[in-house]
Amino acid sequence: MTGFDTIAGTATGGTLYGIGVGPGDVRYLTLRAAGLVRDVDVVAFFAKRGLQGNARAIVDPLIAPGRTELRLEYPVTDEMPPEDLVYQEQIKRFYEESVEVLSKLLRQGKSVGLLAEGDPFFYGSFMHIWRRLDGDFPIEIVPGVTGMSGCWTRANAPITWGNDILSVLPGTLGEEQLTRRLAETDAAIIMKVGKNLEKVRRAVTAAGLLGRAIYVERGTMQGEQIMPLSECPDGSGPYFSMVLIPGQGRRL
Ligand SMILES: C[S@@+](CC[C@H](N)C(=O)[O-])C[C@H]1O[C@@H](n2cnc3c(N)ncnc32)[C@H](O)[C@@H]1O
Repeated sequence: MTGFDTIAGTATGGTLYGIGVGPGDVRYLTLRAAGLVRDVDVVAFFAKRGLQGNARAIVDPLIAPGRTELRLEYPVTDEMPPEDLVYQEQIKRFYEESVEVLSKLLRQGKSVGLLAEGDPFFYGSFMHIWRRLDGDFPIEIVPGVTGMSGCWTRANAPITWGNDILSVLPGTLGEEQLTRRLAETDAAIIMKVGKNLEKVRRAVTAAGLLGRAIYVERGTMQGEQIMPLSECPDGSGPYFSMVLIPGQGRRL
């Protein structure tokens, strides 16, 4: 065993691993995450129909040919709003079916690593699997560098100073609520910008923060784009897009 293997450790049969794979650049995986990606019996990942799967794409350089993989394909993603009952029913059924497949593998004594972008416990689909299996099987969560952390690093933008209050806001909020929350905070991260880009920009402008707002698309990944939100072209952003409002607290 090399020093890396000793530190990263190995996978135990019958255990589910929620593996945080970080914001995009494979070099930002933790040692534990990298070790497990190489060692688990089954590498499982969520994917949108017809696409590779975001977390799977991040760890691609670590997956040797011939590894056993389990693709869990969402029946629906952003075709309809999450508030839609049809969406909720389909996604719920999907998680139930995924849990059945995963349970079967775990009962067979396989170690399964379910990949999660960023950190598994931060707005992660993994959490819907975890809450159904917690207590029934051994589960280890491997924390990951969050997308927001990767984005503020790449934007060269320290996010909180002194006693700054940081708010993490989903761009799916209504415009009025978004504006109000932004006006109340010192620093903010707006997640899930994508199709909400124009609404987010209006809210940031109304809160008087446009001058400080930074738009980051695909932070740390290939195709990364970083620019002032005011200069971002009209329209919508990709799935991996967020807005950063750095705080202006105490600087010594
Ligand atoms: C469902 S959340 C998953 C968050 C993830 N678990 C984490 O720890 O960052 C997906 C949202 O995170 C944001 N995001 C995550 N990684 C990103 C990246 N590398 N660049 C830009 N936005 C990112 C986007 O706003 C995206 O819509």
